[in-house]
Amino acid sequence: MEVIIQPSHHQLAVIASEIIRDALLKKLNLVLGLATGSTPIGLYKALVRMHKEDGLDFSRVTTFNLDEYVNIPREHPQSYHTFMAKHFFDHVNISVENQHIPQNTAENHETFCARYEEAIERVGGIDIQVLGIGTDGHIGFNEVGSSLASRTRIVTLTESTLVANAIHFGGDVSTVPEMAITMGIGTIMKVKQCLLLACGTSKSEAIAKAIEGPITVMMPASALQMHPNTVVLIDEAAASNLKEVEYYKRSYANKLKLESQ
Ligand code: F6R
Repeated sequence: MEVIIQPSHHQLAVIASEIIRDALLKKLNLVLGLATGSTPIGLYKALVRMHKEDGLDFSRVTTFNLDEYVNIPREHPQSYHTFMAKHFFDHVNISVENQHIPQNTAENHETFCARYEEAIERVGGIDIQVLGIGTDGHIGFNEVGSSLASRTRIVTLTESTLVANAIHFGGDVSTVPEMAITMGIGTIMKVKQCLLLACGTSKSEAIAKAIEGPITVMMPASALQMHPNTVVLIDEAAASNLKEVEYYKRSYANKLKLESQ
C-alpha cells in the first residue's frame, strides 16, 4: 500500500483527481469504480473542474458505483443515484448507458448482482476504484464479517453505519434503509488500482487498523493489504493513529523526488 498523508482534504482531492486524469489521458475508455459519501465530493468537484476548464473528456468512460440502498426510490434525495447525478454525472460527459449503479430494490437481486459482476467483466474490469471507509472499517457496504472473497450481493447494514448515515436522513436512524446492494470485497480486490480516501479523526482508528493491523473480516478494509496497487490518501487527522507516519511521509517525498528527476 502506498500511504499519502496531506494537511487537508483539498490536497487529497487534487492528488486523487490527478491520478484519475493521468489514467484517463492514457486510456480514453477508462473504467472507473465510484463511491458516494462525503469523502469523495471534493474529488468529483476537481474532476468536474478539469472537464469544464481543461476539456477533460469522459465520453468513453464507463462507471460502476460500489453500492446503493435497497427500498429507496431512485429520485429520493439520499439515494446514491441522486448523489451521483448531483455531484458528478450531471456535470461531465459520461454517457448515461455507461453509468452503472446497483439497483435500489431487492427484486431479483441475485440475478441483478450476477449481471453487475458480468457487466464489469465485459468491459475488461475496473481500472481505478474510488473508496471511502466507514468508521467500522467497511468499504462499499461490506460490513464487519463480510467474506474477503465476497461478490456483489445484498447486505444488511450495521447499527454503526445506520447511525453514521442518519445525519443524511434528518438524524432519524429509523428512516435509514437497513439494506443495500454492494460490490463485494472480492469484486474490489480484482480492480487494477484502488484509491482509498479518508479524512478526519473519526476515521483514524479504522485507518490504523486497516493499514497496520491484521487482515480480518472484522476490519473489511484490511483486505486491501493484499491488493497489489492501493493508494491510501488521508489527511493528518485520519493518519493520527498510524505508527509509521514519518516513514510514509519520507517514502512519498522520495517518490516525488524520483518523479521530478
Ligand atoms: C459509499 C460507500 C461507503 C462510504 C463510507 C464512508 O458508496 O461505499 O463505504 O465510502 O461509508 O462514507 P463518508 O465518506 O460519508 O464518510
